[in-house]
Amino acid sequence: MSFDKQQNQQTNRQIKLASRPNGVPTADNFDMATSDIPTPKDNEMLLRTVYLSLDPYMRGRMSDAKSYADPLEVGDVIMGGTVAQVVESNIDNFAVGDLVVSNSGWQDYSVSDGEGVLKLDKNMSNPSYGLGVLGMPGFTGYMGLTDIGKPQKGETLVVAAATGPVGATVGQVGNQHGLHTVGVAGGKEKCDFAVNELGFDICIDHKADDFAEQLKAACPDGIDIYYENVGGKVFDAVMPLLNDHARIPVCGLVSQYNATDLPHGKDRLGMLMGLILSQRLTVRGFIIFEEYGDHFPEFLETMSKWVESGEVKTKEHITDGLDNAPDAFVSMLNGDNFGKTVIKVSDVK
Ligand SMILES: NC(=O)c1ccc[n+]([C@@H]2O[C@H](COP(=O)([O-])OP(=O)(O)OC[C@H]3O[C@@H](n4cnc5c(N)ncnc54)[C@H](OP(=O)(O)O)[C@@H]3O)[C@@H](O)[C@H]2O)c1
Repeated sequence: MSFDKQQNQQTNRQIKLASRPNGVPTADNFDMATSDIPTPKDNEMLLRTVYLSLDPYMRGRMSDAKSYADPLEVGDVIMGGTVAQVVESNIDNFAVGDLVVSNSGWQDYSVSDGEGVLKLDKNMSNPSYGLGVLGMPGFTGYMGLTDIGKPQKGETLVVAAATGPVGATVGQVGNQHGLHTVGVAGGKEKCDFAVNELGFDICIDHKADDFAEQLKAACPDGIDIYYENVGGKVFDAVMPLLNDHARIPVCGLVSQYNATDLPHGKDRLGMLMGLILSQRLTVRGFIIFEEYGDHFPEFLETMSKWVESGEVKTKEHITDGLDNAPDAFVSMLNGDNFGKTVIKVSDVK
């Protein structure tokens, strides 16, 4: 069946996992399919996708390696966070026209029983923020920094992917705690944005040949909090700069998501374990909603005020068209996004 460029009211366009990627995903890993629009039963509603969130963690779900969540099966619709509009409702709390944050995945229409679905203010000026600064990534940055990073005024924070939705939140919340904020990002344009718009004290381009030296110079008092988003050579440069009792919230390792092999070079495990011991580091991984789900309402209330007042700024990278989701996803993993990656699937009606 053909895959229309536009959403319609007769069919449900779906993007499915056609095969598991080996390394960087390719077009062959995605199947553009069309099916009937599903019908909601009692206590269910029909949702129409407006915005689709593309997040790095999805790469993990496409593979069948052991993880905290079950992988997608080949043939499944690719999952993902969405802003959607209620088209039909058999649930008391949801009415036709409501805007919600749901997990509808890479498709135009889905049926939901309302579990885990969050209603958005209908007058919200930017509903897509519900997928970024006011949604899962913003919440991740906020909780990881405050609860695991335990920021103390005057300390030094380093975070990479600094202009993405997680890193940008970490940096701006770090500024509110009076930290010396050091961003790491790919390229001059992103670094300038991190400093001039997001308020980082300094931002270092990880593509620079002398990245490690620049990072050292940016952290004259060492590093107290390294918010880990990327791993790889950024972590290699961070390791020698870590202070006693430094905290490392391990949020993600995006530099490794497409890797097919262990990193090249010397085995750093012994060195890392030695550092954890001698420097008495706290290294803690976390999966946001599993650890902190109960805190989401308080986060949303606080962050909504900050976004409204301009205290916290955000940037989105919006691409039109569900059919462009696979390319946009690969680009994001490669660092070609500049801000929160969102697909605009259709208009709010
Ligand atoms: N634990 C959780 O519950 C949880 C929840 C949400 C997100 N996360 C994780 O948080 C991290 C950030 O997510 P996000 O949504 O904010 O992503 P993002 O910043 O929008 O996109 C990923 C960014 O990673 C950077 N990157 C890619 N390859 C890199 C490399 N080899 N070295 C250094 N940087 C590289 C790129 O930015 P530059 O061009 O600036 O380098 C790219 O734009 C990811 O690791 C994600 O998996 C975890």
